[in-house]
Amino acid sequence: MRRVVPHSGCLEAERRRYRSFKIVNAHCDLSVLETFVPAMDAAVAALSTIDIVVVTAGDFATQPVLEQDLERTRQLLTVNFTNTVLFCELARTRLLARGGTLCVFSSVAGDRGRKPVILYGAAKAGLARYLEGLDHKYRAQGLRVVCVKPGFVKTSMTTGLKPPPFAGEADGVAADVVRAIDRGRPVVYTPRIWQLVMMVIRALPRFVMRRVEF
Ligand SMILES: NC(=O)c1ccc[n+]([C@@H]2O[C@H](COP(=O)([O-])OP(=O)(O)OC[C@H]3O[C@@H](n4cnc5c(N)ncnc54)[C@H](OP(=O)(O)O)[C@@H]3O)[C@@H](O)[C@H]2O)c1
Repeated sequence: MRRVVPHSGCLEAERRRYRSFKIVNAHCDLSVLETFVPAMDAAVAALSTIDIVVVTAGDFATQPVLEQDLERTRQLLTVNFTNTVLFCELARTRLLARGGTLCVFSSVAGDRGRKPVILYGAAKAGLARYLEGLDHKYRAQGLRVVCVKPGFVKTSMTTGLKPPPFAGEADGVAADVVRAIDRGRPVVYTPRIWQLVMMVIRALPRFVMRRVEF
């Protein structure tokens, strides 16, 4: 469980805003269910109430690696879908008590079945659909759900991969996410240009998707 804390000079206003926040740490491993409740309890005990939960954690491996390793695939699907959903279910019950925001990182990879990210994308697609359902069911009861769909962002997850056009930086993503939480937007593409990129990709016919490699 992580809190988005922007840290670049260009985000000084956001940084000032977060300076008054109390920061505490609790161990939460998305591959170990037993860590979820203690982590949430530790957060509630330290902060007395929770009104925003941001789930940024995610696992990644390339499609060729996953295709040759069923156990690695199981691990990635479990962390990115099953256990993220289970963690969100725990957060949902805590947040519904007073109202609040659940913000979770999915990916543009979930918007279309694409050759380079079939397995990773499938988990993110499922996650996005789950978050959409939560938004439909619980918005009226005070739970705001924000599904973040980053495009390619230069972070440790993408180290070693060739950045495509429109690759973003973490600080820009953090600023977009803070804005989306403030506004209660149910879905946010970041960097914003990826909303347009994915609109085009979603519209491509299947015979084109079979031929292209992205
Ligand atoms: N970077 C991109 O291009 C991109 C694009 C689309 C979506 N996303 C999504 O955006 C989110 C943030 O990714 P990022 O780019 O910031 O990658 P990152 O720098 O690798 O951050 C991922 C974080 O997830 C944590 N994590 C991994 N497995 C975990 C587990 N089992 N339990 C708890 N934490 C775990 C990692 O912790 P440790 O450091 O301790 O391993 C790391 O801090 C992810 O959900 C990712 O799928 C990223």
